[in-house]
Amino acid sequence: MAQDLYAESLRTFMAPVNHLMDDPEVSEVMINGYQDVYIEKKGKITKVESKFDERSLSTLAINIAQFVGRTLNVETPRLDARLPDGSRIHVVIPPIAKNGIIISIRKFFKEKLSVEKLIQFGSFTKEASRFIQVCVELKKNMIISGGTGSGKTTLLNVLSNYIPYDERIITMEDALELQLSNEHVVRFETRHKDKFGKGEVSMGDLLHSSLRLRPDRIILGEVRGSECFDLLQAMNTGHGGSMATVHANTPVETMSRLESLVLMSGIELPLRAIRSQVSSAINIVIAASRYSDGSRRVSHISEILPLDKNGDYQIQDIFIYTQTHRDENVKIHGYFAPTGVLPTFINLIKTSGFKDVDEDFFDPATYKLEQPPFYMGINYFTGKKGAGGGHGEGGEAIVKGKAREGEEPKKEVVKEEVKAEIKKEATPEIVKKSKPEFDMDEFDISEPKKEVKKEIPKEEPKAEVKKAEEKPKDNIVQSFFKKLDSVADNVQKKIENVVQKQPEPEKKPEVEKKIEKPQQVITKKAPKNDDDDWEDF
Ligand SMILES: Nc1ncnc2c1ncn2[C@@H]1O[C@H](COP(=O)(O)OP(=O)(O)OP(=O)(O)O)[C@@H](O)[C@H]1O
Ligand SMILES: [Mg+2]
Repeated sequence: MAQDLYAESLRTFMAPVNHLMDDPEVSEVMINGYQDVYIEKKGKITKVESKFDERSLSTLAINIAQFVGRTLNVETPRLDARLPDGSRIHVVIPPIAKNGIIISIRKFFKEKLSVEKLIQFGSFTKEASRFIQVCVELKKNMIISGGTGSGKTTLLNVLSNYIPYDERIITMEDALELQLSNEHVVRFETRHKDKFGKGEVSMGDLLHSSLRLRPDRIILGEVRGSECFDLLQAMNTGHGGSMATVHANTPVETMSRLESLVLMSGIELPLRAIRSQVSSAINIVIAASRYSDGSRRVSHISEILPLDKNGDYQIQDIFIYTQTHRDENVKIHGYFAPTGVLPTFINLIKTSGFKDVDEDFFDPATYKLEQPPFYMGINYFTGKKGAGGGHGEGGEAIVKGKAREGEEPKKEVVKEEVKAEIKKEATPEIVKKSKPEFDMDEFDISEPKKEVKKEIPKEEPKAEVKKAEEKPKDNIVQSFFKKLDSVADNVQKKIENVVQKQPEPEKKPEVEKKIEKPQQVITKKAPKNDDDDWEDF
């Protein structure tokens, strides 16, 4: 009843923007002072005619604060709340806000996006969603990363539907946004302290409770504070299949971000120990990006490997979005493809009944797609290391060259004989040390080498692609190459000892050894300053 009254009074105060709230194409309403209103429609931000008068806008802000039992005044000039329809709202008032009262409303859609819709929008592909489904069913721990409004929560919502129906799921959120279709779901929402400074229930508190409530899966809306360490611990101690979102642009930055969250929580552990916790807790990072044309898509699906011997993160991209060009309407074009890098748990996948997800599933040539030039990892089919990259600017790997749309795709992958000595990036010993719970069957290195099934094209790789492979872009990439070189050499030696020898190919594959620079930590990038980010508090 009180809720109905609140909804009714709110509609009166929100009169200038009600039509925008009712428009299903508007996803965000942004009020910058009483005279300026902007909306986001189909990913694009535009200014609209709507205007408030000064008094009614402040009444609206005060009304919202009163209903959620919070104060909005000079001392506490910011407010997070939810509207009766589930929309997320944030308010900042003067003197902090210099343009007058600022209100931003992220609209809540009852009709949630589905996997099919995301595929239709080009946000990712059927194969990528199948791979994620397999990871969910195998209880891999996953982080969905991305910037503000990049589609993290939407992805988490969609992908959590892959969780088997009979599992007990516990969700924790700052504002209820997840709409899981599973039956057995326990939902928690954090609570801010009241005007007397009491009653706060933090994400950490909720995580603490949830671990005592026998969850099969834990889903955490967004990791943003000291709960990070507890979440990693939970992931490392048998709560497999957990999912969370993190505010970071790429898989590399995600590692940095998790690391800084642990450090910020005051845990006194050596950096290497923290990194070890992070890398062994997280199996897969799915990075979401909002591109300059307003489109949202998955930019990376990457696997986190155990730390290397120097204590650096090792990340390999399994699927990646490669941007090819921007057309005259500033629309972004590109393609989403597997990189040819195999997940280290390929054997687990195959022996768990996912027959369709075999080696060929991860080969771009299977889908007549070009080999993505910028990726991290070693291509199983060519033995070539990716040129890194694609982890810098919002996950966009810029490839100079032609458009793909409307063209007959050319097979630019040179499928030489499978030089599969480089079969795993991590030796069983490293895995055993870093991931005590890891399934050792995944590392059956005694398995005979894969037979070459496909025809090997005679032509040379295209100049552009070759160039990208030969010229790493920067020191970070170079150091990554170098690390992969040494890992590859190691693994090759081991496999040569164990695996039955195959007939020698006429010419040994040339593993490029051009990098002279000393090794560096991959994730040297400074963590994002939270103060820069209006969402992060
Ligand atoms: N793949 C997509 N295609 C089109 N629109 C999308 C896609 N993913 C998300 N959106 C829309 O983008 C907006 C932001 O999505 P979402 O809330 O999932 O982002 P977020 O990364 O969780 O944001 P925040 O950082 O603010 O929590 C929503 O309106 C959502 O409907
Ligand atoms: Mg979100």
